[in-house]
Amino acid sequence: MKKNKYIGVLLLMIIFSSCKTLLKTGKNNPEKYRPAYHFSPKKGWMNDPNGMIYLDGTYHLFYQHNPDTIVWGPMHWGHATSTDLMQWEEQPIALFPDSLGTIFSGSVVLDKNNTAGFGKDALVAIFTHHNHYIEEEKTGLHQYQSIAYSLDQGKSWTKYTGNPVLPNPGIWDFRDPKVMWHAGSGQWIMTLATKQSITFYGSKNLKEWKRLSEFGNDTGANGGVWECPDLLCLPTPEGDKWVLLVSINPGGPNTGSATQYFVGDFDGTTFTTNQKDIRWMDYGPDNYAGVTFSNTGNRHILIGWMSNWAYANMVPASTWRSGMTIPRILSLQKVSEKWFLVSSPITKELMNEDVQQIGDMHVQNNTQDWSNYIKKTDGAFELSFTLDKVTTFDLVLSNNTGDELLLGFDKSTDQFFVDRSKAGNANFYPAFITRTVVPRISDTGMINYRLLVDRNSVEVFADGGLSNLSSIFFIERPFHVLKFRSPTNVNVRDLSIKVIK
Ligand code: FRU
Repeated sequence: MKKNKYIGVLLLMIIFSSCKTLLKTGKNNPEKYRPAYHFSPKKGWMNDPNGMIYLDGTYHLFYQHNPDTIVWGPMHWGHATSTDLMQWEEQPIALFPDSLGTIFSGSVVLDKNNTAGFGKDALVAIFTHHNHYIEEEKTGLHQYQSIAYSLDQGKSWTKYTGNPVLPNPGIWDFRDPKVMWHAGSGQWIMTLATKQSITFYGSKNLKEWKRLSEFGNDTGANGGVWECPDLLCLPTPEGDKWVLLVSINPGGPNTGSATQYFVGDFDGTTFTTNQKDIRWMDYGPDNYAGVTFSNTGNRHILIGWMSNWAYANMVPASTWRSGMTIPRILSLQKVSEKWFLVSSPITKELMNEDVQQIGDMHVQNNTQDWSNYIKKTDGAFELSFTLDKVTTFDLVLSNNTGDELLLGFDKSTDQFFVDRSKAGNANFYPAFITRTVVPRISDTGMINYRLLVDRNSVEVFADGGLSNLSSIFFIERPFHVLKFRSPTNVNVRDLSIKVIK
């Protein structure tokens, strides 16, 4: 009798555990590609981050959202909040389409001095209305800027009755307002994407806007439409510098969409730069439309959309689609007389509880198996190390269903790379880009490598965040095998692995 009971319990345990495995890997499991520590919507489609703002200890993330299907469609602003930038809680939808159009990308500011008259400390969202019916008339007047306000910390929003606040002057692509307060000139500055340029507008009250200047057209990368700009002031030992971020689709460095930047100066009216070369914030295929939070003081925190317009609507998915990148702090670093943007991922808050400091090791022209270190991570971890010389190396991540991701550095080309051609389903659409590279920018004699793995994505921050690559893939099971290969002798210093809780 006792024995039967024991067998029964054992059977139940086996059924339970195979159900769990099935659920994790099963074809119909909608959670199969869900990241562990990156934001993704519970259901529906998501693209650009919008209106990000920090308020009284809470980070607000709004985002382009089509709640009803998993392809791009009538855009709403979804809403999520977090206190640590890693654990997000989804909130009710913030902005719905209305008679002026659907709600495209934009920003949110805290109107401390009630310049708009909606109330002291009102949140004001500045966004693009996209009118599909006017678009059909082909006049190019279908995108215009509107505002909405919230008096309860973003929970509910009221659209301004005087919308639009900035009508379209006849430019087909006229969108994605990013607004900031410019103390020097005592006004709000709107940085707006206008086809293949950025137009700056100024306002005292967020309702009446005056055109100030235009930047671009024949500058930088022009292989596609300019979108989702951001203008930031970053400190350097040589004084403040202004950085203009411009997402472009297509025309990225690895084809598809990506974000370029310009380092220069902004005087309250005009942005100027001496930069002749094209600089990309992240060479990876999957970091687009990234902008920074408002109201974070001197910390400029960027989040991007972890996908690419070349294939975003086609990636394997069933009930939800797309995630965001890890939040990154942006700063400037000088290399060979040029200023480059540095991205430093914010992962500390959740990960520092379980850090394995593995230390130093010597690799002698061979392969080292590091699988033991990632055993308990369920495919969600951060790894970092420094190599004491600039040398070719590979990291191979794999699982027992045959998926394999290859990444590392190739000294002969001086490029870091991520090759996802064998990392799960890579044939779902011809435009899925399989091998991507980023040139080494740093001129030091060592390589510093930081890698965030979150089940179906990797984010590489090489040389302290000078050379970056973000990439998604679609594997059957989380990676649990990790190998390091080097064709030469090299010392690996400070190898550390952090488990995501
Ligand atoms: C960028 C973008 C924006 C636009 C939004 C529409 O990814 O094309 O220019 O506002 O997406 O969803």
